[in-house]
Amino acid sequence: MRSLVLLLVGLLVGALCTLIAVNALNRGTAYPNAVMALMGQQMKAIDKSIKQSRCASTDLTPRLQTLRFVANDIEPAFADMQDEVQFGRYAADLRAASDAALMTPPASCAAASAALSNLKKSCDSCHRDYKG
Ligand code: HEC
Repeated sequence: MRSLVLLLVGLLVGALCTLIAVNALNRGTAYPNAVMALMGQQMKAIDKSIKQSRCASTDLTPRLQTLRFVANDIEPAFADMQDEVQFGRYAADLRAASDAALMTPPASCAAASAALSNLKKSCDSCHRDYKG
């Protein structure tokens, strides 16, 4: 009986510790994951628009704006990267590419496609170096 109680207590403590650890891990990654997931969705939406031949600025600008604003949060979300100068540069490159796309709204699907692949390059450069 006593060993059964001890076993149960042990299991309970183990489960609690796992819960605490999983929670802590999730808390640490929710912010960066959210920033990346939001940007990923904007890129997907722009790609879908282009495939559907919807390339007016009313289709693309809101996506580009969201992408641009969320990109402001790359550095705060990845706080442990603050000493990595190149990481900050990649984030700034992405913001510059989205600024360029916003300043000269694509006038055709071909132009939108070019802007998208330009943005994609900024994502890929950082991912190549920093995404494990
Ligand atoms: C300045 C660096 C940087 C830039 C720029 C950047 N990312 Fe990321 N991204 C990362 C890092 C680092 C990770 C890995 C995060 C992790 O695993 O904790 C990541 C992960 C992701 C993920 C998570 C899913 C996966 O594939 O593993 C998505 C989606 C994503 N990024 C989308 C984008 C998109 C879309 C862009 C461009 C619009 C972009 N990122 C630009 C650094 C960047």
